[in-house]
Amino acid sequence: EPLVASLPTPADLPDYARKTLEAIAPGFKLTDDRLREITHSFLHDFELGLSKYGEPMAMIPTYVTGVPNGKETGTFLALDLGGTNLRVCEVKLLGNHKFELRQQKYKVSDTLKTGEAVALFNYMADSVDAFLTERASIDPNQQNEDLLLGFTFSFPVEQTALARGELLTWTKGFSAKNAVGHDVGQLLQDAFDRRHMHVKCVAIVNDTVGTLMTRAYTGGDCLLGSIFGTGTNGAYVEDISRIPKLAGHPAVANGGKMVINCEWGAFNNTAGLRTVLPSTPFDNKLDRESINVRKQAFEKFISGMYQGEILRNILLTLVDHQPPILFKGESSATLNKHYGLDTAVMSDVENAQTLADVRTAVSAGLGLPLESVSDLDAWIVRWAAEMVATRAAKLSGAAVAAILVQTRHARLQGYGDPAEPIKTPGVMHVGVDGSMVEFYPHFEERLRSALRALVGEEAEKATKIGMAKDGSGVGAALCALQAMKQLTA
Ligand code: GLC
Repeated sequence: EPLVASLPTPADLPDYARKTLEAIAPGFKLTDDRLREITHSFLHDFELGLSKYGEPMAMIPTYVTGVPNGKETGTFLALDLGGTNLRVCEVKLLGNHKFELRQQKYKVSDTLKTGEAVALFNYMADSVDAFLTERASIDPNQQNEDLLLGFTFSFPVEQTALARGELLTWTKGFSAKNAVGHDVGQLLQDAFDRRHMHVKCVAIVNDTVGTLMTRAYTGGDCLLGSIFGTGTNGAYVEDISRIPKLAGHPAVANGGKMVINCEWGAFNNTAGLRTVLPSTPFDNKLDRESINVRKQAFEKFISGMYQGEILRNILLTLVDHQPPILFKGESSATLNKHYGLDTAVMSDVENAQTLADVRTAVSAGLGLPLESVSDLDAWIVRWAAEMVATRAAKLSGAAVAAILVQTRHARLQGYGDPAEPIKTPGVMHVGVDGSMVEFYPHFEERLRSALRALVGEEAEKATKIGMAKDGSGVGAALCALQAMKQLTA
């Protein structure tokens, strides 16, 4: 088997280097059996999370009781915090699967991410205020009623109602103080009220839920909304009868369905030494040096925030090897800095068509002079990038497969017959968003290869993966609309 799928192994790869690479590679390999075991374990964590509160995979009931059909209408504000930027949007649902959107992005500084929560929420309210004066078509002063806002807040929030919920923990590098354990809908509303703004936050929405809702609105159907970006997570529609922890709750007295925000980034958090995830020393180093040790275990293998860091750990080991395997033992400021290597660099390295282009991408991405990057160096970096990203995409496939099996749309290969019959597949719509799936080369193809091994070719072929553009904004509007309907019902 070639070490790099796309480029032949160079003849001048020294023996000691080949041995080192061949010793590292198996740690990243996911056999079909291993993938099945992981998916099986995923289903087990689903079960636990649906039955009890406080489980690592939180399986959060969202109080969203169905997906839209595309006929919904209305104009709403949306505020979106969760990745790299803060966005404020005005969304007009036109009712024919289409929408109009005006938006403005605002930067969120590290100081805001890690300072006092009140400052972060004040900043968000100020941004909405600025948007209303500068960009919005609706004039808040001309309105008799409050403007309704859906808040896409892409962190684990244990909801008690559509607009109520406590932050369980921060993820993705946020750590603002006095937010965990607080109602984030209330924190936002308080910030609006302090400014006497006529804006009412009526729904808290995870980005995965927004993605699910948007895909259903624009495409007519959707069974999973998932994000493969700075973080990773998924939301799907569950039968209320299969959510034991909600039993007796007045909101579910009539049965039916509810959207569940899985928070699958936390899959396998507590497994410790019995982990089914293929942890290598490079992953362990990343975890130890992170601000959330042993948390978001699955996310750390997959999402854009972490992949560059895993690669950096591998490359440094090869630089420091005696005798050196990379760059004649020379490092760079980018390589020396914690989180210095952006996942976008990996993407460039894998996008390059020739070895010469790989060299240019490595030199630019790692901040090394072109002369310091030999053809062999370039090939090795490509090898490492491909290995890390392939593992990530395949694990993403395991998460998607777990949802198909959980919703009785497919069978997990090699695990016998499920208790309930399989629904005839037809087309299974999966809405996705995030930088990994949008920009990373071969991501979907690699994800699909895992999916095939897990649920079989027929189910894989029936799975239609589509981008849900502007999912956070449109999804927030759709949830705000649901909130209105629930209030007036
Ligand atoms: C993290 C968050 C989750 C979010 C995901 C994608 O995993 O905890 O809520 O959906 O990132 O943004």
